[in-house]
Amino acid sequence: MTKAYAPGKLMLMGEHAVLYGTPCLVAAVDKYLGVIVERRDDGQVHIDAPDSPGGDVTFLSEALKVGCEALRIKHTGLWVKTISQLSGLGLGSSAACTVATIRALAAEFQKPINERQLFDLSYQSVLRVQKIGSGFDVAASTYGGVLSYTNQGKIISPLTLAEPLALVVGFSGEKASTVSLVEMVKQKYEQYPDKVQRIMQAIGVLVNQAAPELEEGNFEAFGKFMNFNHEYLRDLGVSNQPLEAMILRAKEAGAWGAKISGAGGGDCVIAIGPKEKHADILHALEQAGGKAFVVGVSDKGAGVEV
Ligand code: MEV
Repeated sequence: MTKAYAPGKLMLMGEHAVLYGTPCLVAAVDKYLGVIVERRDDGQVHIDAPDSPGGDVTFLSEALKVGCEALRIKHTGLWVKTISQLSGLGLGSSAACTVATIRALAAEFQKPINERQLFDLSYQSVLRVQKIGSGFDVAASTYGGVLSYTNQGKIISPLTLAEPLALVVGFSGEKASTVSLVEMVKQKYEQYPDKVQRIMQAIGVLVNQAAPELEEGNFEAFGKFMNFNHEYLRDLGVSNQPLEAMILRAKEAGAWGAKISGAGGGDCVIAIGPKEKHADILHALEQAGGKAFVVGVSDKGAGVEV
């Protein structure tokens, strides 16, 4: 029996634009999804994923298929169980589940796998289910830490932070459809290519300017860049009233910066602010209708529990 785990993620800056070629900044968070794999001898694959929304195990099943094919694993049955701290919070449980499943399979069947191989296989598996996606979430779950990332994992560079980063998260309670939001932005791009291209490039510039502030621990300056980034996301049409309400209240409560994290249309907002204001920001996010919590960065990526 093997237990592997992978951290969840939050997009710090650069969502949507990453699909148009600019870098994004992503953090692995200190909340995890664990996958236990045990061999059986009855030829059955039994999946026990109590936290998966609506009992949907598509990502996990695909990860088993891709992992077994690519790693040439022949089994006589498997029992697979997930234990999640991520479910329903917009923290990337599908990507984390995929990465942890392939990591667990590799360990259980003693197949050596390095981080790049784990990323590539997991990304391939996620794409088979979702069809679209830059893979930033897979990278965060695989490598951990804070990463500068470009589409399809062409560049995955870890950032070294001088100070520990804590983010206040507000979950809107609404599950967003990444696929339809990405499609909506694509249609806008086709309709107004110059305007949307300019927005994407401007987001790319912001990401490049913000990264050194993040590395140096200038979180106030980084928060200001997050605010500018959010204005562009609003221009793209991916924000909505509940997300705007949370962002506004977080800033009124003392956040230096607040923005959508991810595709928009639901899921999460993130806020960054002085530690002594965290309680006020949490309260403000709850007042605005969100489920609020604080996360730190997970320095570790996917791994196996010994
Ligand atoms: C969704 O969380 C972030 C997007 O940039 C899509 C992606 O990068 O896969 C909208």
